[in-house]
This record gives sequence, C-alpha cells and structure tokens, in this order.
Amino acid sequence: MIVCSCNAIREQELRLAARQGHAEVEAVYARLGCEVNCGQCVPFALEIIEEESCVPA
Ligand code: FES
Repeated sequence: MIVCSCNAIREQELRLAARQGHAEVEAVYARLGCEVNCGQCVPFALEIIEEESCVPA
C-alpha cells in the first residue's frame, strides 16, 4: 500500500525506516531519500511511525 503518493513511499518501507529510531515524519522521509511535499500523507504516516515506536527493538 502506498502511504505517500508524492514520493511513492510504501507502508512497509515507512515501517522499516521508522524502526531505525526516527520519530518525526520529516526524518523518516529523509531516511528514504524523500521529503514531505503536499503533506496529505502526514497524518497517516505519523500513525504508522507511532505504531512502530511502540514495538520493542
Ligand atoms: S502524499 Fe506525501 S507528501 Fe504528498
């Protein structure tokens, strides 16, 4: 599933990047070599990042 259509970021990619320890959308996107563009994906991306930060390493 695509989370960010501007950058074609898939949910799985986002989860993996979030598990690297970044808590902010901008930092996770930067990890993927992208940046927030339209911002439409930010609420959903944040949800995913928060879910991953609850998962023990
Ligand atoms: S959909 Fe992610 S920045 Fe536009």
